[in-house]
Amino acid sequence: MAFLAFWAWALVGCLAAAALAQDSNLSTLYPPLWDESPEQFSDYRVENGKYIIDPWVFTDRMGMYRILLNQTAKYFAKFAPENEQNILWGLPLQHGWQYRSGRLADPTRRTDCGYYPGDTLCISVDSWWADINYYLSVPPFLAAIDSGILNISSTQIKILPPPEDEAKFCYDVSGCQSFVPEIMDGWRAFFQYMQSPSSDFEGLLKYLWDAHTSSLDYPVSVFVDRYAYYFEPEADFEKNWAVAVNYLAASRLPTTLNRTHNFQAGFPPRVLVDGDIAPFIGDFTPLQNRVLLLLQVLGVTHRLTGSLSLVAWKIAMSTKAARELFLKVLEYFL
Ligand SMILES: *[C@@H]1O[C@H](CO)[C@@H](O)[C@H](O)[C@H]1NC(C)=O
Ligand SMILES: *[C@@H]1O[C@H](CO)[C@@H](O)[C@H](O)[C@H]1NC(C)=O
Ligand SMILES: *[C@@H]1O[C@H](CO)[C@@H](O)[C@H](O)[C@H]1NC(C)=O
Ligand SMILES: *[C@@H]1O[C@H](CO)[C@@H](O)[C@H](O)[C@H]1NC(C)=O
Repeated sequence: MAFLAFWAWALVGCLAAAALAQDSNLSTLYPPLWDESPEQFSDYRVENGKYIIDPWVFTDRMGMYRILLNQTAKYFAKFAPENEQNILWGLPLQHGWQYRSGRLADPTRRTDCGYYPGDTLCISVDSWWADINYYLSVPPFLAAIDSGILNISSTQIKILPPPEDEAKFCYDVSGCQSFVPEIMDGWRAFFQYMQSPSSDFEGLLKYLWDAHTSSLDYPVSVFVDRYAYYFEPEADFEKNWAVAVNYLAASRLPTTLNRTHNFQAGFPPRVLVDGDIAPFIGDFTPLQNRVLLLLQVLGVTHRLTGSLSLVAWKIAMSTKAARELFLKVLEYFL
């Protein structure tokens, strides 16, 4: 319980320090290059009657999110105008942070992929973040197609492979279904629930976070070789991040546009290098330093307790009342 108290205290402290963006124009909260990314299938290149999507180009991958957000807007219209309450915003905003903070670039520096000058839109297959995010972009997109939400047949699109490690990814509905069935099932369940007339916000969050966590098991276990491309502080951050997601999932954080945007103020704005020790990183805000420290403590606790801390946290967050209280506390400090 002391651990839970600490985590709650630290998180609240972090969020208390977060400056809440009070911009009346929601479009200022959109991820980078949102307007430059495809909003409909016809914005993609066509070849042999198929839309060609290269998920290793930032705007192409972001376009899948933009289409997804566009086509799911009607299911969230009952909660707020302008698609603000669409909980799928968490994905593109997260991907936008990865891009802006340099995390999609080639960590080995063998190529200019993701660097300026060079190929700024390139997403490197050697980037741990890019590989994890692949499973949070392509399978959800394919599951949405398969659920009939995007009004297109999966035979009408073609997802291009990366320049290497082709066998570690999947490219179409049937391929992904046999390759990572639990990921596809998780997202299909979410989209099916979303389409049911009785869907409510709480239920949507549950299905979303279940799909989200199920999407991480495969890539987190397969791309462990990527850690070697980073300085230790960044590799540790990646490992702690993968742990922390499970805690966030248990509290079913509503990943709406505003909330995700505010939350992201605490994320490290650049890739960590040798000598970066939280909470003493000079070019990070106090909030960013604190979040990083918090993730370290969480990661260590998780490993020391053999993940019992996650079990405890899940129990603590198992009732709607507890999750609402948690959120209220956060919002009080925001
Ligand atoms: C989201 O933020 C915008 C700008 O700060 C605000 O106008 C809007 O009311 C907020 N919406 C919700 C649902 O909080
Ligand atoms: C919001 O900002 C965008 C981009 O800066 C602009 O195109 C749009 O007209 C603005 N909308 C409103 C309602 O001010
Ligand atoms: C969806 O995309 C279409 C076509 O680009 C656009 O006209 C429409 O306003 C978008 N809808 C939403 C909710 O973003
Ligand atoms: C679905 O796609 C078909 C053919 O591409 C088009 O005619 C129809 O208008 C689309 N329906 C919606 C709701 O977008």
